[in-house]
Amino acid sequence: MKKIIAAFSCLLMVLGLSANQVEPLFLNVATDNSSLVLGVGQDGKLYIQHYGAPVGCESQFEGYQTGRRVDYGTDDFAYPARGGRYYNQPALAVCYADGDCNTELTYVSHTITQSPSVVKTEILLRDVKTLLEVTLIYEAYQKEDVIVSHSVIKNGGKKRVYLDSYASSSMAFPAGKHLLTHFYGSWAREMQVAREILTPGVKTIQNRMGIRTTHTENPSFLLSLHSDSWSETQGEVVAGALAWSGNYKLDFQMDESQKLVVIAGINPEAARYPLDKGAEFETPNMIWTWSGEGAGRASRNLHDWSRRYQCYSQAEVVPTLLNSWEGAYFDFTTRTLTDMIDDAADMGLEMFVLDDGWFASGEFARNDSRHGLGDWEVNAEKLPEGIDYIADYAHQKGLKFGIWIEPEMVNKASRLAQEHPEWIVQSKDRELTTTRGQWVLDLTNPQVQDFVFGVFDRTMQLSDHIDYIKWDCNRHVESFGSTYLKDQERFYVDYTQALYKIMRRIRAKYPEVIIQSCSSGGGRVDYGALAYFDEVWTSDNTEALSRVFIQYGTNLIYPACVTGSHVSAVPSHQTGNMTPLKFRFDIAAAGRIGMELQPKDLTAEEKVFARQAISSYKTYRDLVFSGDLYRLCSPYDGNHYAIMYASKDKSRAVVMAYCIRYQARTLKPYFRLQGLDPDKEYKIYELNTENSSFWGNGKVFSGKYLMNHGINPALLKLYDSAIFMIEENK
Ligand code: GLA
Repeated sequence: MKKIIAAFSCLLMVLGLSANQVEPLFLNVATDNSSLVLGVGQDGKLYIQHYGAPVGCESQFEGYQTGRRVDYGTDDFAYPARGGRYYNQPALAVCYADGDCNTELTYVSHTITQSPSVVKTEILLRDVKTLLEVTLIYEAYQKEDVIVSHSVIKNGGKKRVYLDSYASSSMAFPAGKHLLTHFYGSWAREMQVAREILTPGVKTIQNRMGIRTTHTENPSFLLSLHSDSWSETQGEVVAGALAWSGNYKLDFQMDESQKLVVIAGINPEAARYPLDKGAEFETPNMIWTWSGEGAGRASRNLHDWSRRYQCYSQAEVVPTLLNSWEGAYFDFTTRTLTDMIDDAADMGLEMFVLDDGWFASGEFARNDSRHGLGDWEVNAEKLPEGIDYIADYAHQKGLKFGIWIEPEMVNKASRLAQEHPEWIVQSKDRELTTTRGQWVLDLTNPQVQDFVFGVFDRTMQLSDHIDYIKWDCNRHVESFGSTYLKDQERFYVDYTQALYKIMRRIRAKYPEVIIQSCSSGGGRVDYGALAYFDEVWTSDNTEALSRVFIQYGTNLIYPACVTGSHVSAVPSHQTGNMTPLKFRFDIAAAGRIGMELQPKDLTAEEKVFARQAISSYKTYRDLVFSGDLYRLCSPYDGNHYAIMYASKDKSRAVVMAYCIRYQARTLKPYFRLQGLDPDKEYKIYELNTENSSFWGNGKVFSGKYLMNHGINPALLKLYDSAIFMIEENK
């Protein structure tokens, strides 16, 4: 049974600590609307007392008793370590040189540093026997109600130790019924939503593919506390996301007394990490937020925080674009591209992106996915005028220019593979399996890091007019291993750290270039990548109905200002589905809009519509990028999907609504708006159509009306859609 007591000087003396650290110690890691209270117990260990709404003075926890048996060792340690009396899932597991695999962390000291918007609490813990130290770091972002937490593990002893587990953060929640929302999927079906009530045992969300880690699951979740149902507007919701682009593991353990502990960090599978004398290991950030106003607020907290502090591009408006991939694939000449640029300019688009297929020559020419990766010189047979000519052409037309690379990879059919077989990720005497005819380059090797940086650097030198790089990564790791590393188990961690190191180098030299993180679509969608990349390619599936679900899921965690969304041709190249052009545009409008088709295949009428839809998008895209996202209904629940983005000052908003299932004549949609000022008057008008679906089009309504009664546009047929501007009527 745990007790926080007023004095524990004996214990501290045993630990060699000074007498002035003996008062009961509670630390309140607080934001404007949430509070994480940590307390040191009479055993000198650090416990989580509370995470949720503020509870007032933290000293009220003095004498607190959980009522649990202390000999069961299941109390809520702030950073549970394997060994001693603790037997549940650990955040930390260490084996020492003498064969001992127990760790019992006790409090040593702490510091608090404050800036106007962030309060940073660092707490030093030490194992009772060895000199292993852990510093827990909590950064409390006041306005956004976000707590970013990670750990630094230091081997203070004289001999090498091995880390079997080294999570970033652990959080404890009271016994109860909690609904977990998490994400699953595959290529072309990313960020599908799964919801389940947690039951006793361990629920794990993880990936072990090394790279391209977010197709199958995503290192993020929302947890509706004390609830078995999802609400956008009510109840306590905790959201979490790990900022790591490698293997991850998030464990939700509900123990025998139904208490829930969430442990999040790097996946330690096949990654037993050696820590030499004096060495430190810094874990990636785990981002937590608490909302007392449902899932909508939790999402908005993450969006606000990430746009301000994490994402490389902080919600600036970016150019609309035409990407060559689905319109031309590998089959193009300079003329094909300049024609596409002409058409893009004609439709009012602002950038042209040349996708795959422009490099490598002769037998390795990149005319399909099985050739050329690694040989990053322009294919002069295909593009004799060079990239500069095309980039310059785009600039002359008033468009920016972007280009595709996949620098972490090498095709079997390439000069690079022949010249540097030792640079390929491989395990000695095991088969080198290919995907898309390609292998992964071993980023743990500093020579390869230089090469990958060089690919980016040289591509930027192809022209003075390169404004955007699409960085792709089209396979995962198999038969992991490195000819460079002595310790193979460091591979997965070192790979991701090396990727970040390269990105820091790139950003130091090219701070302005827009970089997209693409990985066969949404295979690298995480807050770690977003510290360096401006945007993510959400999915290779550009079909609008599929996109509803992909975008809904992605934007539960990640802000719309980073999610690329393109209008493509019908029948869809991925699903075969036919959707109206208006529906496709209205769906793409919810993110960073682009087109990905051959404009020549559009009719004159379609081009007129495209021009008009792009032009209207430019009038409200600032709301998509920096406004507050409100989900008005979920695509999983009914026949419609609707969202809105409202400006922070509540003077403008854009509402996007879609009919996604056939529903006969009975189920008419009704959308109650959110995020407006009840006391303001707003004019509502529909965009992208001359025949509004709403009887109130052009009228003025009060904020009260729009939020308490709502609007009922006649979106009755499958793929009917509407975009409404809502503007304060002054
Ligand atoms: C991946 C990307 C696509 C496209 C192709 C090119 O699949 O996700 O967008 O760039 O590669 O080969």
